[in-house]
Amino acid sequence: MEMQKSLVLIKPDAVGRGLRGEIISRFEKRGLTIKGLRQLDVDTALASRLYDIHEGKPFFNDLVAFITSGPIVALHVEGPEVIKVIRKMVGATNPAEAEPGTIRGDYALVIDANAVHASDAPERAEYELSLFF
Ligand code: CMP
Repeated sequence: MEMQKSLVLIKPDAVGRGLRGEIISRFEKRGLTIKGLRQLDVDTALASRLYDIHEGKPFFNDLVAFITSGPIVALHVEGPEVIKVIRKMVGATNPAEAEPGTIRGDYALVIDANAVHASDAPERAEYELSLFF
């Protein structure tokens, strides 16, 4: 079985609300492997590298301000088709559109503070993982 990898970030809203364990537990119970786990404070330089594809967009400054506002937890997660699996578990980017039962559908309400980030393609996962591990 071919393994794939993804970066997941537990964002400052979820860390601040004590949801780290709950979120990590969902991935573990699903059968995915947590290969790396690290809590850190993201500075503006790292935030800009993580969100390079959003530079110039109207929400970029808010995005950087939010991800640098408190500690985050970075996870290196592996499993078969992990990117697709995790994106379904995470739910729609806008929590108002995320289905109940997804992480954002259960733990978030607004698009900035949407609890988690997850890689959206294998090349992105390689790049994003290299920033944190
Ligand atoms: P994330 O998966 O971390 O990727 C980029 C983030 O930008 C996204 O989650 C949202 O938290 C945030 N964001 C804020 N406004 C928007 C928007 N209009 N469209 C997409 N993402 C947005």
